Amino acid sequence: MSRPVAIVTGGAAGIGKAIVEALIEDGYLVVACDLAEERGKALENQHAGSVIFRRCDVSSESDVEAVVDGVLREFGRIDALVNNAGIIRRRTSEAMNTEDWDAVFAVNARGAFLMCKHVANIMKRQRSGRIVNVSSVAGKLGDITSAPGYGPSKAAMDALTKTFAREMAPYGVTVNGVAPHAIETDMSAQWSEERRKAIIAAIPLGRLGKPSEVAAAVRFLLSEGAGFITGEIIDVNGGFVMD
Ligand SMILES: NC(=O)c1ccc[n+]([C@@H]2O[C@H](COP(=O)([O-])OP(=O)(O)OC[C@H]3O[C@@H](n4cnc5c(N)ncnc54)[C@H](O)[C@@H]3O)[C@@H](O)[C@H]2O)c1
Repeated sequence: MSRPVAIVTGGAAGIGKAIVEALIEDGYLVVACDLAEERGKALENQHAGSVIFRRCDVSSESDVEAVVDGVLREFGRIDALVNNAGIIRRRTSEAMNTEDWDAVFAVNARGAFLMCKHVANIMKRQRSGRIVNVSSVAGKLGDITSAPGYGPSKAAMDALTKTFAREMAPYGVTVNGVAPHAIETDMSAQWSEERRKAIIAAIPLGRLGKPSEVAAAVRFLLSEGAGFITGEIIDVNGGFVMD
């Protein structure tokens, strides 16, 4: 078989970048989609021949269509999709306005939906493919870090994972998620020192997670060995939630 092709959203930084690098090790040609052009192009240059950067706002259907159509035209297949792009807006619920709410849902929930929607037909035709959605512990627990739109948007993503898992199962396509907590990236760099200490104190393993540790779970869900797992959301949280 020719080289497998993966799309990773939010692939220019943090967890997304670690996922891109893990998939390169697994032999994928990776299309990294992101808004961050400078970082995306730097990643493309760093891994020339294995990573292609595409600027894409996942909340925009025309951007998503352009990327998916382009990948299909150029490479003829899509073997893996990782919906990792996500944003958080930290506000009290009183301060949070409808623009904040809509912006968070537009990226975290609508973005994952649009990517799944446009990739699903291709994977159905191929009768193969893997999708992994990068959710959050907040999808299960609700907000824990003063961001009242974030947990609900990730809960929507978790329901989307199960919805597409059912729809895609007859075609041999699996759809799963990972639910990280407290991973060391730009997103967690927004915490105050006090919050950081409190978050670490509540984690049984007593430390923050690494982006590569989330990537390892994604890599497993994309692997051949995970072929009988679908509709599952794997915790990557240092034991913070055990369910
Ligand atoms: N860091 C954590 O502790 C943590 C915990 C739980 C879940 N997560 C989830 O993991 C994922 C990655 O988080 P991270 O910590 O690496 O964040 P990050 O902010 O470091 O990186 C996110 C990337 O997504 C990109 N992005 C944002 N909006 C986009 C859009 N509309 N279209 C395309 N790309 C867009 C950003 O440019 C950035 O490169 C997110 O979905 C986040 O919700 C992170």
